[in-house]
Amino acid sequence: QKLQMSLDQIEKGGYDHFMLKEIHEQPKAITDTFRGRMLHEEKIIKMSSIENHLDKFLNANRIIIVACGTSWHAGLVGEYLFEDMARIPVEVEYASEFRYRNPIITNKDVVIAISQSGETADTLAAIKLAKSKGAFVYGVCNVVGSSIARETHSGAYTHAGPEIGVASTKAFTTQITVLTLIAMKLGEANGSLAKHTFENYISKMQLIPRQVEELLKIDDKVKEIAEVYKDAKNCLYLGRGFNFPVALEGALKLKEISYIHAEGYPAAEMKHGPIALIDENMPIFVIATNRGHYEKVVSNIQEIKSRAGKIIAIVTEGDTTVKEIADHVIEIPDTEEALTPLLTTIPFQLLSYHIAVMLGKNVDQPRNLAKSVTVE
Ligand code: AGP
Repeated sequence: QKLQMSLDQIEKGGYDHFMLKEIHEQPKAITDTFRGRMLHEEKIIKMSSIENHLDKFLNANRIIIVACGTSWHAGLVGEYLFEDMARIPVEVEYASEFRYRNPIITNKDVVIAISQSGETADTLAAIKLAKSKGAFVYGVCNVVGSSIARETHSGAYTHAGPEIGVASTKAFTTQITVLTLIAMKLGEANGSLAKHTFENYISKMQLIPRQVEELLKIDDKVKEIAEVYKDAKNCLYLGRGFNFPVALEGALKLKEISYIHAEGYPAAEMKHGPIALIDENMPIFVIATNRGHYEKVVSNIQEIKSRAGKIIAIVTEGDTTVKEIADHVIEIPDTEEALTPLLTTIPFQLLSYHIAVMLGKNVDQPRNLAKSVTVE
């Protein structure tokens, strides 16, 4: 019998789409991002790209993160991480806005540019502007040798491997991984993170790839949820703290590949507007992990319930309170709150994927979108 497989099928490694393959590659991609940087046994983080410029980071007035799209969402997670772990003020900017608003930048600022492709025109222009004003510019890119990698003073590759699907998945989680390592490293260096807290983060980080692997096994459950909500016209995604950017990213994933209108919000902002949209036809995806303002999110969930909204909640395993109120729950393994974005994002990726497949959309190459946006 002749074994016939197209080049395309081989490249997809047995998966129906690149996106699904890339979702499933995340345990390995995150491990590759750790490699040589997070030494678990020694309990140290080794990053020469930071160590060689430590004074720049530690003496910085602030860190400005510039990026677009999903990379901008990773930057927002970075803001929570840097401020929490290293107590360094952070601003996160859309590269396209930053470059045109005559920003105030000095040589006491550190700019971190995040880009999967390393070719995004707006991010590249923002880097050039920041450099011209004397800032130190650090890049977090996936594509080795890309324009942004070359244009920055220093940087770290995410080592996610090629990402073909237009909807970014493993690039996002590996960007967050790099940012977490940097935040931990800086927090340790400036004394903001106590030794035992730093070491605890290393132990918990070490578990993440295996926890992602576990989480990927819920695929069938996510598929059932996708089946129920695939015909929705509008969806809301809510999260707080470290998981507010994950809500934005969840909504972006759904928009991009299924063309369903979705919005991400910080959960508490709901009552300032979006609550008006809630009725029995509105699915609302809520991240309610056990350590992140849990009671407050639970009360947001109750508000949704009393308006007949459908609630799909991401909770920490063993949760009982939300389970009683929500229409569906997806459990994630327990970890430190700061590390939860690496887990909470996985069900949203799977959900968008399944909905798009069920609707017959072109998952890997959604309409109107390009993998890298090299024009403004
Ligand atoms: C993500 O799913 C999108 N396709 C898009 O928002 C992307 O993240 C953005 O264009 C930035 O790309 P970059 O990371 O290559 O700079």
